[in-house]
Amino acid sequence: MSTSPSKIELIQPDDWHLHIRDGDVMKDVLADTARQFARAIIMPNLKPPVTTVDLAKAYRARIQLNLKAMGISSFTPLMTLYLTDNTSADEVRKAKSEGITAFKLYPAGATTNSDAGVSDIKHCYGALEAMQAVGMPLLVHGEVTTADIDIFDREAVFIDRVLIPLRKDFPELKIVFEHITTKQAAHYVRDAQDSVNHPNTIAATITPQHLLMNRNAIFAGGIRPHNYCLPVLKREEHRLALLEVATSGNPRFFLGTDSAPHAKGAKETSCGCAGCYSAFNALGLYAEAFESVGKLDRLEGFASFFGPDFYSLPRNSKKITLVKQSQAIPVELPLGDATIVPLRAGETIAWSLA
Ligand code: NCD
Ligand code: ZN
Repeated sequence: MSTSPSKIELIQPDDWHLHIRDGDVMKDVLADTARQFARAIIMPNLKPPVTTVDLAKAYRARIQLNLKAMGISSFTPLMTLYLTDNTSADEVRKAKSEGITAFKLYPAGATTNSDAGVSDIKHCYGALEAMQAVGMPLLVHGEVTTADIDIFDREAVFIDRVLIPLRKDFPELKIVFEHITTKQAAHYVRDAQDSVNHPNTIAATITPQHLLMNRNAIFAGGIRPHNYCLPVLKREEHRLALLEVATSGNPRFFLGTDSAPHAKGAKETSCGCAGCYSAFNALGLYAEAFESVGKLDRLEGFASFFGPDFYSLPRNSKKITLVKQSQAIPVELPLGDATIVPLRAGETIAWSLA
């Protein structure tokens, strides 16, 4: 019998999937992430999307200006490019030489600001060839978007229709299956074979909301727009499968919050945006999930080691401490001129950063 600790020390984590938007809202959300994480993969689904190296460098410069204005020197943004039907092999090679970390595949229409996404992966084969050749990871939003597929089945169908053929055609391409939500995805990534000469070709990120909630949370006593994200929360059996793989110590699974800020008014409306804002106390949420199955000792690998190992980046060296000391989550936080409702607004979370 092990008693639960009241404090855990770990190497500082990174967030391998994050949305920080642009303009005057950016600094509000960036501050929450930089308080906890050393690095984050910055998603490129701006309006217009970050499709070129030049756009990504300009975006990085705006991020750095905001960090500087807030006096934050301890946080590094890792930039991504938005893959389109027209991304060229040259742009991929340029991205590699200019320090872009990855490309992101959004199937057209899959989620927030994905209209410019890929209509057919076959259009991207030149770019994918180049990514495989230079060792540029492809991050995938793994959902099909055709109207005939039920929204709760979109991820599982993506595995069969897109991911399996893609990995067959590009066996050495490094792929991260982002924000997985189903038993099918968890087991696919767990059981997939690496190419003989290339280990670490497949991994997955998992969000705090998919470890802590099932789809009932969207409808508990009425419609709960702040628990709506994409891919949408699934049944309890899927949550349990995600929790199992996340806490298993398998290095293919690592932390990616998918914290996706939308102003309160854009969520609480007749057609609300998809996205949960988890950045306020993301580490507390993950600690709660790991503690729920007695696996707090596995949190450090998931949060701090397996991500940099997959991306061939150094692990962080600074340590942080999480304490079991309840923290009240505000009902709203500032977001530029508006406000945002964080995940678990108005509730308390058991774990927080010391
Ligand atoms: C994200 C966003 O708002 O940018 N929304 C979400 O529900 N996760 C986009 C995404 O990652 O799908
Ligand atoms: Zn996302």
